[in-house]
Order: sequence, then structure tokens, then C-alpha cells
Amino acid sequence: MLKNDEVPFYEPMLEKMIKKNKKRLNYDFLSSKLYNDVDVFFIAVGTPEKNDGSADLKYVYEAVDGIIKNITKNTTIVIKSTVPVGTNNKIKEYIRDNLKKFIINVVSNPEFLSQGTAVQDEINPQRIIIGTDSKQAIKTIKDIYKHKDEKYVLTDSNTAELIKYASNSFLALKISYINEVSNLCEKFNANIEDVEKGMKMDKRIGKYFLNAGIGYGGSCFPKDTKALEFMAKSVNSEIQTITATIKVNEKQVTKMLDKARKYYSNFDGLNVAILGITYKPSTDDIRDSPAIINLNKLLEYKTAISVYNPIPIKKLKEIYKDRIKIVNNIAETLKNADICFIFTEWQQIKEMNLKLFEKNMRKPIILDGRNCFELNQIKDYRVIYESIGRKTINNLN
Ligand code: UGA
Repeated sequence: MLKNDEVPFYEPMLEKMIKKNKKRLNYDFLSSKLYNDVDVFFIAVGTPEKNDGSADLKYVYEAVDGIIKNITKNTTIVIKSTVPVGTNNKIKEYIRDNLKKFIINVVSNPEFLSQGTAVQDEINPQRIIIGTDSKQAIKTIKDIYKHKDEKYVLTDSNTAELIKYASNSFLALKISYINEVSNLCEKFNANIEDVEKGMKMDKRIGKYFLNAGIGYGGSCFPKDTKALEFMAKSVNSEIQTITATIKVNEKQVTKMLDKARKYYSNFDGLNVAILGITYKPSTDDIRDSPAIINLNKLLEYKTAISVYNPIPIKKLKEIYKDRIKIVNNIAETLKNADICFIFTEWQQIKEMNLKLFEKNMRKPIILDGRNCFELNQIKDYRVIYESIGRKTINNLN
């Protein structure tokens, strides 16, 4: 696909970028020619979660093996993949044991881009962490990135690796924290939106990653928090705040299903509408998506499920085949539904015509797991509307 200028996943701006730089890009993955005369290798492969929560490094070592076997001169390897603390040093030893002819510098340079804004994040990063003891390698990386000196943090590789896990886990912690506060809001009849607003105005707290919802998902936070917990245990230590973060998230993800039981003690026989299926907006990624966890739970019942997502998700059809109906417009998704779950805050959903609920649903019960609408907006419609950390609107009685 890449050879035909096609990007195998949805990422704003990426296809344009790849087309623009076509002449400078070569995708001969399997050819040993790829390794000829290379000054720097970037390893950016996945490090998926193993059953015990640790990170699987097999793809990283496969990439290292390819380099060891095929290089034609001294070179530098930059590890961008998220790898457990100590991995860069282990890779260095591995190379020393298996390669005698050339010298390879190994540098930890963790990645901080987010899906959906990946291209901008890469072009204009907030910081660049370089973990190495090689002055030459530092110069090589700085020559490539060409950013201002104040953006760099120069350190050893263990520290660089830990910065990555500490950052992702801290963001996850903020999310679990605000989600717990939202649960308190529901008990005290307080409003989480105003709590968030009030907190975000304090610069020491910061305005990001304090949006309550049905928890974090994706290919990074769930895996990296568990990997950090695993790493702590491996050195007879613990990281209790992150253990709590994980536990809170697991419960939060299915919060809307728990709320739905107030209206239906059993979901058998219901028509269910789902708006938003990706783990966040502006991506077609459904890995570890809270929406998918909920969808799988709903499929345990005899429900007829219609799913709308503003951009098509090829994988959805492959995985679920005829078990769900994939619909490309909101009105049709809502047709005759007994309940509607909102799992992702896509702009198209936030801006939808709210009349569609009462117009199309058999029973307009809406469970919004991402607080997509203002209570002031929705209060004028004949619906039941439950969201996160805000009061319930019930205009059906
Ligand atoms: C995350 C980090 O934000 C990046 O800095 C990091 O480079 C990346 O992981 C990685 O390790 O590769 P990403 O997984 O793309 O990026 O997505 P985020 O925007 O961080 O969102 C993660 C999850 O948190 C989503 O499910 C989102 O819905 C949820 N979230 C985010 C909330 O529930 N509330 C918030 O306030 C923010």
C-alpha cells in the first residue's frame, strides 16, 4: 500500500506528507539493499503487551537482527519504540555479543506523538529525549531533528526509557483521577464540567487530560501503565498510584452499561445504537477502545446493534461480520433503537442534530460516555439523557 502512496491507517496529514516526499522514500523492507550505507536506523516497531502485562520485545530484536546481519559500516540505532527500562543497555550487550565487524551506537529516543495529531507532534515536538553516553550519537540526532537546544533533554538510556513510561502513566493517572471525581459529582449532585473548568484554570494543574469519560484506551496507556507496574514489581518495588489508575479505569470503561441497567434489567431483545467506536476521535484505531469492550459485552445478549463511526473502520467488518450493523449516518443508526450509547466524542457526533434522537428512536434513552452535549442544549428534547458526572435529564415521564 505504501508503495502506491496509500497509508494503511487513518492519520490526518500523513498521506499528503508521504506523497510530497515520495522521491525520498523507499519501502524495500525485505531487501538487504535497504541496509547499505545507512548512517542511522530508527526502530519504531510495536511493543505489545504480553499476558503478564510485560512488554513483548520480539519485534525490536527482529529489527536489531536485521541490522546486525546486513549493515555495511559503523552506524547508529535509535530506539523510538516504548521499551522497558534497561532495554537499550541489553540491546547494546546483544550487539556486542553478536557483531564484531562494526560499531553501533544505541540511543534511546522515546516517541511522544499522539494519534490524530501525529504529524504536527512530530514536526513540532514539545521535547526530545536523548538517552545515550555517546557524544557522537547526540550530534547525529540533533543534526537530524534540527530543533532549538532548549527542546532537548540529554540523559542516560535508562532514564530516557523511564521518562516515556512516567509521562504516559501520569496522563493516565490524571484521567482516572478526574473520572473518580466525576463519580463523586454524581453522588453529590455536582457538575463535573464545572469542576474541570475550575481546576483547569490553575496553571499548576494544567488544562489537558482532565476530561472525564468512560476511561482511557488505545494502544499506549493501557499497555504502558501495566508495563510500568510490571517493571516496578520486577525490582521488588511498587507504583501504587498507577496500580490504582489501572483499577479505576477498568471499572470506568463499562460505566454506561451499569447505568443502562436502571432502564433495562436485561438487554435481550433490545435494539442498540452505538455512536463512535474508536478509542478517541480522529483515528480509525479500535485497539483497546472502551467502545469495543462495551460492544463485546452487549453482544453477550440477544441485541441488534447498529454502529456509527464518522470514518469507516475496515477492521470492524472483518471482526464482527454480520453480528453488528455498520451504518454511515446517525439517523439510520438511531432508527427504532431502545437505547443509544455514545462512546467517542467525534466532532460529527457533538454537532449532530439533537432532534434525531426523539425522531428516530423507539425509546430515546441516551447514555453519553463522553459528555458530548451541554445539558442546556439537551434539556429541551423529549429524551432521557445520562452522561458522566452530571445530573440526569429525564423528559420522558
Ligand atoms: C498517548 C500519549 O498522549 C502520547 O503522548 C504518546 O506518545 C502515545 O500515547 C504513545 O505512547 O505512543 P494516544 O494513545 O494517541 O497518545 O492518545 P491520547 O490522546 O493520549 O488518548 C488516550 C486515551 O485517553 C483515549 O482513549 C482518550 O479518550 C482518553 N482521554 C484523553 C480521556 O479519557 N480524557 C482526557 O482528558 C484525555
